[in-house]
Formats: sequence, C-alpha cells, structure tokens
Amino acid sequence: MENSLPEHIAIIMDGNGRWAKKRFMPRSFGHRAGAQSLNKLLKEADKIGIKHITVYAFSTENWSRSEDEVSALMNLLREYIDDYIKDNKNSNIKIDAIGDLSRLDKELQSKIKKLEEISSHKKGLNLHIGLNYGGRDEIIRAVKKLCLNVKNDIISENNIDEKLFSSYLDTKNIPDPELVIRTSGEQRLSNFLPWQSVYSEFYFTDKLWPDFDIKELIKAIEQFKNRDRRFGGR
Ligand code: FPP
Repeated sequence: MENSLPEHIAIIMDGNGRWAKKRFMPRSFGHRAGAQSLNKLLKEADKIGIKHITVYAFSTENWSRSEDEVSALMNLLREYIDDYIKDNKNSNIKIDAIGDLSRLDKELQSKIKKLEEISSHKKGLNLHIGLNYGGRDEIIRAVKKLCLNVKNDIISENNIDEKLFSSYLDTKNIPDPELVIRTSGEQRLSNFLPWQSVYSEFYFTDKLWPDFDIKELIKAIEQFKNRDRRFGGR
C-alpha cells in the first residue's frame, strides 16, 4: 500500500561549501545560496501540504569550523530573522528553534524569541530550525531535567516511558519525521534527531543543498510513498 504524504520531513542541508567552491567563491556564499534555497522550498512545501520541516542549520559540532565561517553563519541567521520579521505579513510559515540556544549570543537569542512570537499565530508549515542542535546533547539535557524532576518528587521513576521521555526533548510538540533527507552524497545522520528518527525513511541525493528544489523534494516524497514501512512488524 502506498504511504501518504509525510507530515514531517527532516533535512540535513549539506553541500553549501562544495557548491561555492565549484564557483570559486567563499563558503559563506554557499551558505547564503543555501538559505535562499530553503526559503523557496518552504513556500512550495507549504503549498503541497507538508506540515513540518526540521532543518539542521547549525550543529553542536559546527563551532569547530573557522571563526569566519561561524560568524558568517550567525550573521546569515540574523539576516534571515530580520527579513522574516520585516516581511512577516506575507508569510504563512510558523518558525521555532530547537537546540541549546543558551550558547548563542544574547542578542541573537532575543531575536529568535521575537521570531517565534511573531510567527506563532501562522497557520501554514511549521519550520523547526536546529541551532546549536546535537541529538546526544538534546538527550543529555532531557535526562538532566528528568533527574531533577525525579529528585524533587515531581515524577516517579516508574512512570518514565518513551512517551514521557519524548516530552522532555526539544521536539516535544513535533511528530517524529517520517522522512529524513540528506543532500550532497553523504549518507549519515551526524547527530541529527537520533531519538526521533528510529523509524524514519532515509533519502540521500547527490544534489548539493543550494540546488535542491521542489522538484527534488517531490522526487524524495515519491520514493517515500513507495517504501514498505513495517515498523518492526510484518
Ligand atoms: C552544510 O554544508 C551546511 C551547514 C553547516 C549550514 C546550513 C545552513 C544553511 C543552509 C543556511 C542557513 C539557514 C538558515 C535557517 C538561515 P557544508 O558547509 O558542510 O558543505 P560542504 O560539506 O560542501 O563543505
């Protein structure tokens, strides 16, 4: 039987650097093109009825990139938020961030808060942006909160199950992704949504992220629809 349209698609937007290199341009040029590509894709994905998209914009490991690249990515994020706020009447997209935002600079943290508030009443696609996000870090943060609540007798250890644990994760209000896409030919999860993706279908493409458009997304969805999802059963 054919699967229906995935409700939640998670995307590892990889290949910006190589896309720029092919054009003899700096890596930041590729990230900028990647942000534009994301924006176009979101509008189209909203039109075809996708409800959630989670993107890996900055991982807990990305701090080890050069200072220049980290600051280019942070600036791009600031610009992205400013543009959304300026033009928000024309957008249907609701945005929030997942990850440990406390390591971002204070001004950026308040910008993200404002973005979340301004977009909170939007009725279209939900965009979840992974910022200083790492799956293992998310699990450790959840365990710490859970331990504290057990210690303070707010919950009993006997009540801990998968559902309760999920409610301690950054993705507590988001269904698990049915489909995870990674561009640029790499075939690994790189610490992106490890808890949430245990039953996800994976789609890998050689396309570099700035070249990934709605046609490519539809190809991924078509392939997803033809997969046999058994969830461990027969
Ligand atoms: C991976 O490509 C991409 C990133 C680490 C950053 C992704 C960010 C964006 C697409 C733009 C910012 C998004 C928002 C929401 C403003 P890479 O640099 O690892 O590419 P490479 O593997 O070719 O070097």
